[in-house]
Amino acid sequence: MVSATLVLATSDAADTRRLAARVAEHLRPGDVVALTGELGAGKTCFVQGAARGLGVTGRVTSPSFLLRRDYEGRVPVLHLDVYRLDDLAEVLDLGFDEALDGQRVTFVEWGDALRPLLPAEHLEVELTGRAEDDDARSVVLRAHGRDWQQRLAEASTALDPWQAPVAQHDGGEAMGD
Ligand SMILES: Nc1ncnc2c1ncn2[C@@H]1O[C@H](COP(=O)(O)OP(=O)(O)O)[C@@H](O)[C@H]1O
Ligand SMILES: [Mg+2]
Repeated sequence: MVSATLVLATSDAADTRRLAARVAEHLRPGDVVALTGELGAGKTCFVQGAARGLGVTGRVTSPSFLLRRDYEGRVPVLHLDVYRLDDLAEVLDLGFDEALDGQRVTFVEWGDALRPLLPAEHLEVELTGRAEDDDARSVVLRAHGRDWQQRLAEASTALDPWQAPVAQHDGGEAMGD
C-alpha cells in the first residue's frame, strides 16, 4: 500500500526550511511542487529551504509582486507566486509552460485557480497554522500521481523527524503521562 499523504509538523520558520531542504533531496528536473495555504502560512519559507537544498546560494525572496523568479542551483529553479491571480491566461503569461519542460524544478505558490494547469504528477505542500503555537505549522505533503506516490513513500523515513504527533482521541485506553 503506497502512502499518498504525509502529515508533518514544524516548530518554527527555520524548521520548515530544514524540512524543505530534506524534501528537496528527492526533487529532480521536471518536478512541480505546488504550495497551498493562507498568506503568511510559510509557502515562501518552504521554497527558501528547498531552493537551498537544490544548491541555490542567493537570497530567495517572495515573488509576490514580481510573480516569477528564476534561480540557478544544481538544477534551474523556477519560483512562481500566482496566489493573487485568478485568470489562467495570466498564469500562462508568466511562462507556466516552462514549468513542464522537464528542465527545472518548479515551485508554485497558488490559489485555487491554478488547479486545472497542474500536471497529473506533482507534489502538493499544504501549510496551515496550529492553534497551540504561533510558530508551529502543520505541513501536509500530498503526492499526486503514481510516480509521486512511490517517491513520497521512499522519502517518508527521511522525514520521520517531522512526523506530526498523533492527536489524542477518545476511544482508546488512556496512556497516562
Ligand atoms: N513554522 C513556520 N514555518 C514557516 N514560517 C513560519 C513558521 N513560524 C513562523 N513563520 C513565519 O511566518 C511567515 C511565513 O511567511 P511566508 O513564508 O512569506 O508565507 P506565505 O508565502 O505562505 O505567504 C514568516 O514571517 C515566517 O518567519
Ligand atoms: Mg509567499
